[in-house]
Amino acid sequence: MRTRPLKVALLGCGVVGSEVARIMTTHADDLTARIGAPVELAGVAVRRPSKVREGIDPALITTDATALLKRGDIDVAIEVIGGIEPARTLITTAFENGISVVSANKALLAQDGAALHAAAETHGLDLYYEAAVAGAIPLVRPMRESLAGDKINRVMGIVNGTTNFILDKMDSTGAGYQEALDEATALGYAEADPTADVEGYDAAAKAAILAGIAFHTRVRLDDVYREGMTEVSAADFASAKRMGCTIKLLAILERAADGESVTARVHPAMIPLTHPLASVREAYNAVFVEAEAAGRLMFYGPGAGGAPTASAVLGDLVAICRNKLAEATGPGESAYTQLPVSPMGDVVTRYHISLDVADKPGVLAQVATTFAEHGVSIDTVRQQGKDGEASLVVVTHRAPDAALSGTVEALRKLDTVRGVASIMRVEGE
Ligand code: HSE
Repeated sequence: MRTRPLKVALLGCGVVGSEVARIMTTHADDLTARIGAPVELAGVAVRRPSKVREGIDPALITTDATALLKRGDIDVAIEVIGGIEPARTLITTAFENGISVVSANKALLAQDGAALHAAAETHGLDLYYEAAVAGAIPLVRPMRESLAGDKINRVMGIVNGTTNFILDKMDSTGAGYQEALDEATALGYAEADPTADVEGYDAAAKAAILAGIAFHTRVRLDDVYREGMTEVSAADFASAKRMGCTIKLLAILERAADGESVTARVHPAMIPLTHPLASVREAYNAVFVEAEAAGRLMFYGPGAGGAPTASAVLGDLVAICRNKLAEATGPGESAYTQLPVSPMGDVVTRYHISLDVADKPGVLAQVATTFAEHGVSIDTVRQQGKDGEASLVVVTHRAPDAALSGTVEALRKLDTVRGVASIMRVEGE
């Protein structure tokens, strides 16, 4: 057992950082035994030094993160600041100073993962980020290491807890979006500005990271098609129920049938109640991975929160410390396939379209013809009429997204179509 401690700089001490510090202190003996050397919190960089931080020696607190990284004795930096800057500059500074990095920063990894991986490799260091996707759920390492001998063809997951909480409330109580959001805010699940969650940005960043790992290629945030869930209505849930479905905000990553490209998307979708993801309630996350040899795997657990996210950070810290003692590094970026990311128009799936139409002879035929003209085959049609108007719900067979968009555009131009009430993809069948 080495007695000289491995020294850790904690960059950020908010909800996650304070839990990391607490676990490092309370589990110090176990961490030492598991690593084979003591691990010591050597400095904590914060923005507000006057804030009381229980359990943290005030002598460790500094506002100068750069000086902490440059002082010459730090082995590992844990970045739990979030956002692009100053996190990016600090991680780069860490690598330049021979320091491996644990990061929980999905936005930064989705935007600049390739450059950060390259910097880690140049300096012979580790960059680990289990906490960046789905909080406590072991997902990055199982995909990167346990499934390294397999071929992942599809990943479909609920990777945002806030939106899952809102959608679950809408499903179970019949509430509208705003009412469910208000409850999520009151309970602390949604932030005061919920945009990153409800508009799908948070899920899209996680999708980009997972797609890169799953398909051994580079997928940037801009490559991920994104639709939020603010337009999902109580009426959509009623329609979903009639079809034996519920609605989830899904991240879906697919390898094309010919294996020559991939797609990455985040949007609300109906899924059958029999699908394992349908039973993921409240703020939980779950990711369904389909691999050629392994078959279907499901990863499930808390996707956010201080302690769960700290669990993933600590796992990475232990892994990096073990690598350091072995004078090795863990797996770096694997992007050798260089598969292009196809646009959303190429995605093939099923659709549930709800139309308000005039209830008179020939309307159904006109609507059906419009679908046929765009090569979209109809699976089922349900019509309910009232006072000369009708609502028409069409569920299609699988069709390219571009064909569906063309169909909807043409439907909107028909005099007999008063409006397109909702369009939702149907997944997981
Ligand atoms: N806001 C995220 C969520 C957690 O609701 O899942 C951090 O990514």
